[in-house]
Amino acid sequence: MTRILVTGGLGFIGSHTVVELQNRGYEVVIIDNLSNTTLEVLHNIKAITGIQPIFINIDLRNQKEVNTFFNEHAIDGVIHFAAYKAVGESVSKPLAYYQNNLNSLVYLLQELTERGIGNFIFSSSCTVYGQADELPITEKAPIKPAESPYGYSKQAGEIIIKDTCKAVGLNAIALRYFNPIGAHPSIKIGELPLGVPQNLIPYITQTAAGIRKELSVFGNDYPTEDGTAIRDYIHVVDLAKAHTAALRRLIEKKNKENFEVFNIGTGKGSSVLEVIKAFEKVTKKPLNYKIVGKREGDVTAAYADTSMANRELNWKTEISLETALKSAWQWQQAQKKS
Ligand code: UD1
Repeated sequence: MTRILVTGGLGFIGSHTVVELQNRGYEVVIIDNLSNTTLEVLHNIKAITGIQPIFINIDLRNQKEVNTFFNEHAIDGVIHFAAYKAVGESVSKPLAYYQNNLNSLVYLLQELTERGIGNFIFSSSCTVYGQADELPITEKAPIKPAESPYGYSKQAGEIIIKDTCKAVGLNAIALRYFNPIGAHPSIKIGELPLGVPQNLIPYITQTAAGIRKELSVFGNDYPTEDGTAIRDYIHVVDLAKAHTAALRRLIEKKNKENFEVFNIGTGKGSSVLEVIKAFEKVTKKPLNYKIVGKREGDVTAAYADTSMANRELNWKTEISLETALKSAWQWQQAQKKS
């Protein structure tokens, strides 16, 4: 059995990817320090797949623990999700972000290099493109100065991996996610934002649930059709499947270069107002919202050219925005009940 280490495997994207890996017959070992999730997710993964993945509570900033882990577990590949991801928080705590997101990456790569483990998948972000000059965004679009330490940690992560691939023959793929949303159709796993959500969809669902008074729409004077900003919202299960496709590419040695990057989105841009309308249609209830000023650091529009991923990974998205929003809403309602 091929054994895959999933760091951050109890987080939002990590947990959905663990489910897809187990559905495809991989053996999964999860490392998570529970800094932004709970052990309940582990039980819910088992409830969905019937398989309890091996779970080890390790902080990847602790190099000794990482070394001990690799001494004790034979691993065939790694999908590395574990990282801090709050853009705003990264501005006030840059060192925490660099320490966590970069040290853990370096320690992992050291272990892989020393042990000759060759398959590595990295969570990157479309944030590396900033406001791209051309839409849809291809992988050839230039990397722009980041708006936050979070963004720089993703850019630096890609560079660290690329340099390592070049030097030691590691094979790696960085997936540049657009905007992941939604929850597993079982509604047993989903996004668990701590405190006030920063991202659009959890803010919308919490507003609809009455936890937040109203949604603030950040800006309606962008140069877009309805004046609100455009993003590419991808269902988390479609995103999880991109990871299994990328892993298969590496395991089957179908990669064309040591280090490859792929945009992972739907290819379709939706404005904030379009998302609100779609949400209202799905839930059949009006959403309380007001227009406020732009949020610092937001770009006008970002959506993916997915042709590289479609062709090379033999992968494409299957789930509509409406279905994704519906699952996010069902997930929100399930939280309320529990
Ligand atoms: C952000 C990050 C991205 C990160 C992602 C997931 C940037 C530039 N990008 O994406 O790197 O991977 O979060 O954590 O920071 N909006 C509102 N009201 C709200 C919240 C959001 O109008 O209360 C709007 C935003 O202005 C934006 C859209 O909704 O136009 C999506 O926002 P969000 O969900 O926060 O994602 P991004 O900012 O695109």
